[in-house]
Amino acid sequence: MTSHEKPDYWSRKAKTDGYPARSVYKLKEMDEKFGLVKTASRVLDLGAAPGSWSLYVLRLFARQAGFLSAADLSPLSRRYDGGLFGGENFFFIEGDFTTEPVRAALAARGPYTLILSDAAPATTGNRTVDTLRSLALAEAALDYAALLVDGGSLAVKVFQGGDSAALLKQMRERFKTARAFKPKACRSDSFETYFIGTGKRFPVQTVSGDSEKKFTAKSNK
Ligand SMILES: C[S@@+](CC[C@H](N)C(=O)[O-])C[C@H]1O[C@@H](n2cnc3c(N)ncnc32)[C@H](O)[C@@H]1O
Repeated sequence: MTSHEKPDYWSRKAKTDGYPARSVYKLKEMDEKFGLVKTASRVLDLGAAPGSWSLYVLRLFARQAGFLSAADLSPLSRRYDGGLFGGENFFFIEGDFTTEPVRAALAARGPYTLILSDAAPATTGNRTVDTLRSLALAEAALDYAALLVDGGSLAVKVFQGGDSAALLKQMRERFKTARAFKPKACRSDSFETYFIGTGKRFPVQTVSGDSEKKFTAKSNK
């Protein structure tokens, strides 16, 4: 086992680098590989607490103009934010992103060029139950693709197993490319992975059969 695989390596590194959680390195790796955040101007972060991904995005937005919306059941940690969570280019709502009031608040600040979801259920230790709950969250995150501009991207966490392959298939219908990717910072015993869709297609038929409203980068204020 290399030092990078030790369970606490990434947590210690996060503290040194000024992030509340080790998960930031998963986003960093996906960004470096797929150019997600560095090409985005309007980002939505679902399941954002304690706030490492949001901080990563906002630190990038100190160099490139952009706006970030975020939601979580829990508040964000202000320990490392240096005031960034109080900035005008940031909106946070504490609540369940699968509910209508939270969705409406996030929709009012869209459309987005990138949607991230690191949302995870409180785990029970029963892999079947945990996988089902994770899939439900990932499906709810995919529903938010309706708030993406034409050509936008989405990265969503999902616990492998159950019907996760069907979710990837749905993403392939909605995005020009969709693939599974497991960053190195995922714990070696974890069964989480990320599905990354780039180049959202338009038009997309929603499950109800209605076509989505088209958003373009032009409507991106
Ligand atoms: C792994 S943590 C996210 C870590 C975050 N990306 C970071 O870098 O700090 C998963 C989060 O998903 C949130 N979550 C789970 N279900 C949710 C829901 N329905 N609505 C909002 N947040 C949810 C949890 O509260 C938890 O904070």
